[in-house]
Amino acid sequence: ENGVPAWQDVVQDYETIQNHWNMTPELNEDSSEVEVLKKCEDFAIILEKTYGNSGSRPSENETNTMGKHSKGYKSQGPRNPINEALLHQRQSLPIYSARNEIIRKIRDNRTVIVVGETGSGKTTQIPQYLMEAGFVRGFGSGIAVTQPRRVAATSISQRVAEEVGTRLGDKVGYSIRFENCSSKYTKIKYLTDGMLLREVLSDPLLLNYNVVILDEAHERTLRTDILFGLLKSIQKQREEMEDENNKRKENRLSQNNDKKTDGKTLDLENKQPPRITELKIVIMSATLDSEKFSNYFDNAPVLYISGRQYPVKTLYTKEPQSDYLDSAHISVLQIHLETNPTSGDILVFLSGQEDIESLEKLLNESNKNLPKHNKILTTPIYAALPQREQNRVFDKTPPNMRKVVLATNIAETSITIPGIRYVVDSGVHKSRDYDSRIGVESLLVQPISKSSARQRMGRAGRIGNGVCYRLYTEYDFQKLDENEAPEINRRQLTSVILTLKASGIEDILNFDYIDAPSIPSLKNGLIELYSLEALDDSGKLTKLGEWMAEFPLDPVFSKVLYESVKYKCTREILDLVSAQSVETLFYSPADNRQTASEAHKKFQSIDGDHWTAINLLKMFDSYRENGTKIIVFDQDSEYPTENPEYNEKRSEETKAEGSGQRLSSRKEKEVMSAGKLEYWCRQNFVNYKNINYVFRVRKQIETMLTRMGIDVTVSCGDDTDSVLMCLLSGFFYKCAMLQPDGTYRSLVGTQTVHIHPSSTMFRKRVAAIVYNQLVFTNKLYAKGVSSIQPSWIQTAAPKLYGNINFSS
Ligand code: CDP
Ligand code: MG
Repeated sequence: ENGVPAWQDVVQDYETIQNHWNMTPELNEDSSEVEVLKKCEDFAIILEKTYGNSGSRPSENETNTMGKHSKGYKSQGPRNPINEALLHQRQSLPIYSARNEIIRKIRDNRTVIVVGETGSGKTTQIPQYLMEAGFVRGFGSGIAVTQPRRVAATSISQRVAEEVGTRLGDKVGYSIRFENCSSKYTKIKYLTDGMLLREVLSDPLLLNYNVVILDEAHERTLRTDILFGLLKSIQKQREEMEDENNKRKENRLSQNNDKKTDGKTLDLENKQPPRITELKIVIMSATLDSEKFSNYFDNAPVLYISGRQYPVKTLYTKEPQSDYLDSAHISVLQIHLETNPTSGDILVFLSGQEDIESLEKLLNESNKNLPKHNKILTTPIYAALPQREQNRVFDKTPPNMRKVVLATNIAETSITIPGIRYVVDSGVHKSRDYDSRIGVESLLVQPISKSSARQRMGRAGRIGNGVCYRLYTEYDFQKLDENEAPEINRRQLTSVILTLKASGIEDILNFDYIDAPSIPSLKNGLIELYSLEALDDSGKLTKLGEWMAEFPLDPVFSKVLYESVKYKCTREILDLVSAQSVETLFYSPADNRQTASEAHKKFQSIDGDHWTAINLLKMFDSYRENGTKIIVFDQDSEYPTENPEYNEKRSEETKAEGSGQRLSSRKEKEVMSAGKLEYWCRQNFVNYKNINYVFRVRKQIETMLTRMGIDVTVSCGDDTDSVLMCLLSGFFYKCAMLQPDGTYRSLVGTQTVHIHPSSTMFRKRVAAIVYNQLVFTNKLYAKGVSSIQPSWIQTAAPKLYGNINFSS
């Protein structure tokens, strides 16, 4: 008799759970009930665990409600048809022939390392193979795939959703900071490594997942590195629990399980029954020190997937180039004019959004002089670009045009853009660096490594023999480092230490790092957290520390937001923090610098860049409100700016704006209003794209603060002191004092610092400054600078600056 009651429940709860079973491919509509039940084996155990043993079986009434429509398996709801062409494309990928081997290896081993050439199909295919092979059972998201970059998580999940034939957010979804596109039905979830780290905080054993795939492992990002250690330990803990669970299950089965209910509801919707199963770890990468990884993961097997790669001819410049943007511009035009436009598209690697926008402008300018039948179509791709615009790189190039993709190193290994035959490599990227001696973190344009250069080159050999134009000399190439140092050696560790502490790792000095960071940088991180009052005297997380760990922002920003309640300036701090999510809010075109700086004057605050940003956001807000009142006639119309769809439409239709057309449809009104906003930005030399991004971020932070019970409408008006003092409660590490010669000396690290020319504080002498970041070019520059009173610094961090006399 044992076990039978549980089977019964499974059938009755079927309606509720069948969505989950849709995921298991072996099950189809014709499966007999017996087969269905067999597949439910896992479920039987779960149900037993939830209310079987504890005697809290649902009452008869509840059972009836749940089971009222059910019996047997029925496919439910519309499913997007699987596209035949995509299926064919999937099957022609190099990885397809290794499908069974991959499944078998992962089935037989706890941890597997997969090394395969970029574009071979690792990221898009392996999760699907595992799902098809039934690795995803019961509740939970099933398979997590981490990506170091947001853009990769969103664009790849979209592709995989198409291949699976599901809506994005259903069976296949993604989760990045400020944006969750997944549901309880999601089985394959692409997420940034940072988001998986966050999930560990709320689900310490990651019971939501059967499989965790750490992708792009060769990049050795700080967060992926930390995940290696955490996952290894989670895997062990789950194994131990599984053993215990098995023992308990045996005991239970021998007991009488015919206990009466105590009336508790079985909440299938909200409560995820704990499932303790083995955790599979898959490490994937394009190039990898596989031996090192294998050793670290107890001699895990390594699978090599060969890719398809045509030879690529590599050309170097004869002389070093003084301006890589200029050189890139000329090279693209040269390639475009000297080769057959149908032979393939061009991919240009640049360092970041600023570079990309400048080159885009230059190319669009040159485009005017190109013949009608031979134009260039520029498609940028970088992190802060709105999703819809990112997708343009995958669109088919229209006839008579050649696509020129302008990318950051996102296109190096994370995403493969089809149709590329020519690569232009600037030889630079943006890279973080941290000097633990002086406690200075910087984000700089720096030379890439040889291995990056090779990856960039490889992108040209996907469709046929390609050509890679390196905008540097062969001599300079030889001087490049072989690989970039792991990020853990180049970053400030404050945020990571906070996460480790919050996930229960007490002794962060002896954590199982694949490459341990230096002791000074760990200590600096601990000291900073202590000064921020996130840690107490014994190194334990304080209440504030827990709050900061929960908040998905850099601990410094979390602290500042937290303190804003005390300083009664949440509204302003919200603007200030959101504004930091973009490189710049303003723009000053080289050919119009004077007009731009005139236009920027009306936002400028004598207190510096932070208030300048707040002023801008306030004015934009108020223009948006008043502007909307004037333009929109429909009472119930909403602001269009939050919706990317409007913006897209807007750019097509902005031209109609000036023609004095009567507005007829509601849509047109909304479009017009977005157009006005963009016009306003253009007039004021404000970066429209970035300001919109800042508003999206602000909305997210606002929602999170509200959820945590903080009133986000509290404003201090124009009390600049309160805001700057509040800012200092987190930024006390980033202060500098005036010296007699007009330069500043940083408090931490005692470096000579100059104010960057882009700052409103450039050439100003004030007693003390606070800054967002230090940048080293020929000198050490402070960017994002405001003027502060020296005495405020001590108030902000008594633990750090307790016995320094700032007034002297
Ligand atoms: O991860 P890996 O570099 O091994 O390859 P992948 O990202 O899984 O991509 C496999 C194939 O799918 C590549 O040939 C891509 O060109 C193609 N793909 C695509 O056509 N469109 C996308 N949005 C994503 C991938
Ligand atoms: Mg990949």
